[in-house]
Amino acid sequence: MVNNYISLGKMKSTLAPLPGIGYNLRLLHAEDLATTLTWRNREDIRHHFIKSDIISWEQHLSWWEEYRTKNNDFIFIIEETKKPNRPVGQVSLYNIDLENNEAEYGRLMIGDNEARGKGLARRATELLMTWAFNSLGIKRIYLEVFKDNTVAISLYRRCGFISFGDRGELHLMNISRESGSSMLGSIKRKDSII
Ligand SMILES: CC(C)(COP(=O)(O)OP(=O)(O)OC[C@H]1O[C@@H](n2cnc3c(N)ncnc32)[C@H](O)[C@@H]1OP(=O)(O)O)[C@@H](O)C(=O)NCCC(=O)NCCS
Repeated sequence: MVNNYISLGKMKSTLAPLPGIGYNLRLLHAEDLATTLTWRNREDIRHHFIKSDIISWEQHLSWWEEYRTKNNDFIFIIEETKKPNRPVGQVSLYNIDLENNEAEYGRLMIGDNEARGKGLARRATELLMTWAFNSLGIKRIYLEVFKDNTVAISLYRRCGFISFGDRGELHLMNISRESGSSMLGSIKRKDSII
């Protein structure tokens, strides 16, 4: 179990891909940046993000340089396991707080249209939650989502997140390790996803 930020930083440089069925979650590489910027700047994706302006290549690179120095920020690429290992989306766990055993979930997008609607976002979310609870010792994961993003809200509910309030245009949701474990356990028994 990770108990300090130095170990967390080491983990960020050495973590092996988290295996799912038909896909992996692997850490973002410099080679992914052009793809993730294209996804992020899509009209239908960026409007669901709190910072929704078009991002330039220079801004993306400077964000990347900062991201690399952060021990408590993990961005994963959702990548198909069959060759040629197509990256199809992204998901993230950040603001990891080891004192309070909490972390924020977000930056989720399925950027490849063909990969949408196949349960990949749900399975990637469940895999990341399982990793956070079991390997990082996180006890609570929270997220913010625009109230009008009904697809994402429905996805998060499906994964066991519970609403706990609103802030302006945002809807606030969270999940505890206890409720997550029973939810993920029942999913695992039902369809062996993770
Ligand atoms: C949100 C997003 C990641 C969902 O990706 P996806 O691969 O289509 O989602 P999944 O196939 O895993 O579906 C999981 C759940 O999402 C919900 N969902 C997915 N597509 C939906 C649709 N068209 N209408 C309503 N609910 C939908 C359902 O609850 C679904 O569960 P179910 O299939 O058991 O009913 C994708 O639409 C996306 O990238 N959107 C733009 C970025 C974004 O909104 N990110 C979230 C920011 S908070």
